[in-house]
Amino acid sequence: KPYIVIMAGGIGSRFWPYSRNNRPKQFLDILGTGRTLLQMTFDRFLEISTVERFFIVTNQNYLDLVKEQLPELDEKQILTEPLRRNTATCIAYATYRIHSLDPDAMIIVAPADHLITQEKKFHQAIELASQAAQIEGRLVTMGIKPNRPDTGYGYIQYLDNSENGAFKVKTFTEKPNSKLAKAFLESGDFVWNSGMFVWKVKSLISAYEKYMPDVAEVFNEGVFYFGGLEEKEFINRAYSMLKNISIDNGIMEHSDNVYVIPTEFGWSDLGSWHSIHELKKRDKDNNVVEGNSILYDTKNSYIKVDGNKLVVIQGLDNYLVNESDNVLLICKLDAEKKFREFVANAKKKG
Ligand code: GDD
Ligand code: MG
Repeated sequence: KPYIVIMAGGIGSRFWPYSRNNRPKQFLDILGTGRTLLQMTFDRFLEISTVERFFIVTNQNYLDLVKEQLPELDEKQILTEPLRRNTATCIAYATYRIHSLDPDAMIIVAPADHLITQEKKFHQAIELASQAAQIEGRLVTMGIKPNRPDTGYGYIQYLDNSENGAFKVKTFTEKPNSKLAKAFLESGDFVWNSGMFVWKVKSLISAYEKYMPDVAEVFNEGVFYFGGLEEKEFINRAYSMLKNISIDNGIMEHSDNVYVIPTEFGWSDLGSWHSIHELKKRDKDNNVVEGNSILYDTKNSYIKVDGNKLVVIQGLDNYLVNESDNVLLICKLDAEKKFREFVANAKKKG
């Protein structure tokens, strides 16, 4: 059975003010199902592996949240990071850690904050990916049919002939500019990278050695510390030496041994208020309303207010109104590119 590595270290700035530094979106029950996104991810993979084979990689500030939300796990299965060094570093930590336990391990790496509605198709895709990844050296990802020229994704172009559902990747372009994204979409030749990967730990370690030798050098030392009292100290040192770079930019764009399983399983990366609005139940005017409010002439909007405050709104179209923890944000529902700026400026205000 494969090891499951769940990346849960993002800060969720695109859901501010609802999602804050101290509780990013993976730890929230964003869909109102009774389970948080992290818990839903855990449930989804439990059918593929066993509890002992899970590892969650997260920032040390979120350790208590993970323990609280996944009480099934032993504390050793929660790998904590002192700094945010992006996915290349986070995945390296998990990969070298698991390699020290089991050098022949196969791992599935998944983000903690995606939604998948067709679980059966998802499991089938994972099965194909695992078969393709048996051959050492291969890096396998799952590809999703794109439906808009979104610049927030990786775009994958692959060769024609498939081997049991797996296609060899020709080009991998992480977060293209909008002109390129449009061209990729129109060509009909590309899929989005889902951000879920399957590989043998040995395959990925070879890739680090080849494309990110600095990362390989730092984590090679890990065998002396993993599982022991000095692991934390070692990791603090390692992280302070490494750059902030994603696995997509660091490895996937460069490797000539990438395979993709083009598939569809009701995937959504829940990247913005806008995407959640589309998924949730809406009223006849296409509004999502959470909290106590009275709306007049308001449509296509997302109203979410804390507690028992009553909000009365007139005349909004395509707006987000979110009050969380004494912050009130009113902006266009699709102003997603602005969110980082909002957060940065709000921090300055205190
Ligand atoms: N532990 C840890 N540490 N987790 C992290 C860190 C980190 O430093 N940085 C990001 N993550 C987690 C996030 O919480 C998320 O679950 C996942 O890693 C991916 O990071 P994102 O920052 O959300 O990446 P992205 O959405 O911009 O791009 C990736 O996903 C797209 C699909 O959603 C890429 O893989 C794209 O190619 C892909 O299309
Ligand atoms: Mg993401």
